[in-house]
Amino acid sequence: MTEIGIHDIQLATAHHVLDLGDLAEHAGIDPNKYRIGLGQDEMSVAAPDEDIVTMAAEAAAPILERNGTGGIRTLLFATETGVDQSKSAGVFVHRLLGLSPTVRVVELKQACYSATAALQMAAGMIARNPDERVLVIASDIARYELDSSGEPTQGAGAVAFLVSTDPALVAIEPVSGVSTTDVDDFWRPNGSTTAVVDGALSVTAYLDALHQAWSDFAARGGAPIGEIERFLYHQPFTKMARKGHRHLAKVTGAPLDESTLESSFAYNRRIGNTYTASIYGALAALLDLDEGRGAARGLEGARLGFFSYGSGAVSELFTGIVQPGYRATLDPARAAAAMDARTRIDVATYRSLHAAIGTDDGDVETPRVTTGPFRFAGLRGRARQYERTA
Ligand code: CAA
Repeated sequence: MTEIGIHDIQLATAHHVLDLGDLAEHAGIDPNKYRIGLGQDEMSVAAPDEDIVTMAAEAAAPILERNGTGGIRTLLFATETGVDQSKSAGVFVHRLLGLSPTVRVVELKQACYSATAALQMAAGMIARNPDERVLVIASDIARYELDSSGEPTQGAGAVAFLVSTDPALVAIEPVSGVSTTDVDDFWRPNGSTTAVVDGALSVTAYLDALHQAWSDFAARGGAPIGEIERFLYHQPFTKMARKGHRHLAKVTGAPLDESTLESSFAYNRRIGNTYTASIYGALAALLDLDEGRGAARGLEGARLGFFSYGSGAVSELFTGIVQPGYRATLDPARAAAAMDARTRIDVATYRSLHAAIGTDDGDVETPRVTTGPFRFAGLRGRARQYERTA
């Protein structure tokens, strides 16, 4: 059987960074609540001329440079912080990347889950037309109200990945476990720039969905838990993955080792919640940094378990096999450079940026702040304008 899976992956994030120690000091909270209690150190904050489109284009451009555009007929854009009620954010990216008019584009929404739906749809499309490749981009800006308990779990980032036959990184296995339950744990009403969340309910809804998705996965003949070497979880904050892992150990009775999660936290601890991109940011970190069987082989041949959760709630548990020689495709310096390039801001600047979101009306030219290769230039006749600057 032809293998289908993730051939290349790239992370991008925003221009600014806020240290959560500074946020804790402002709020009069022990910084260890954020660093240890939530497992978060920093969060990326978008500049006025950045949004999910600019981050998405920045993540995807290097993938096209490395792999060309041949065979790409579809761009799937996953987000829950869309910039328009009608037009796919991916259409802006399509132009910014200079893709052919014969590439179709669509946006997928179901909270943090939809990049996984995109991956599965891509796999289905490629199974029908094995010469095609699908570009998937997950991009989100997580925003809660100022001074709310969700505030330290904000973030901004995008992960792009190319799905193809004979993937260089991870071959996705066909068995999936799925769980859908109508629950009001987290949502963003029309017109609201921040999410509404019942924090405690969202944590239990996540854990219940994990149990349900695992049960479905096991009932459908998925790999035995003892044959899954590393687990990747949706990471709204990295401690949530620890909670998930403990819960999975409890419901299955398997002796799961929590220390094996550590390398998957490296990027999300510094970027914060990136909603749809979060689990794929965890994958990028694991592939870049986990030594597995030693520096030469890394995780070659290892089976990875993915738990993708989107509030509301839809989730999916599936597995993939790390491919021989995968390290040749990767360069951990790429993600490090994106994070290290951010400009640190103080709490007052972060708060004024937060307060300004959603206040634009009429024609607007945004100030030039980002040094990234794409920028949101403003609104003309209420239509969003983007430009490539490099
Ligand atoms: N040192 C170390 N740890 C400390 C501490 C200190 N000084 N003070 C507190 N802590 C620990 C607490 O013991 C707690 O740990 P456990 O969870 O292991 O018990 C942890 O810090 C958090 O403390 P609280 O429970 O008191 O935190 P909170 O009430 O302020 O809110 C939250 C936490 C509910 C996650 C909130 O940040 C929130 O609502 N976030 C947004 C919603 C969210 O991310 N939900 C996750 C599931 S939903 C999902 O996954 C989809 C999505 O992306 C949103």
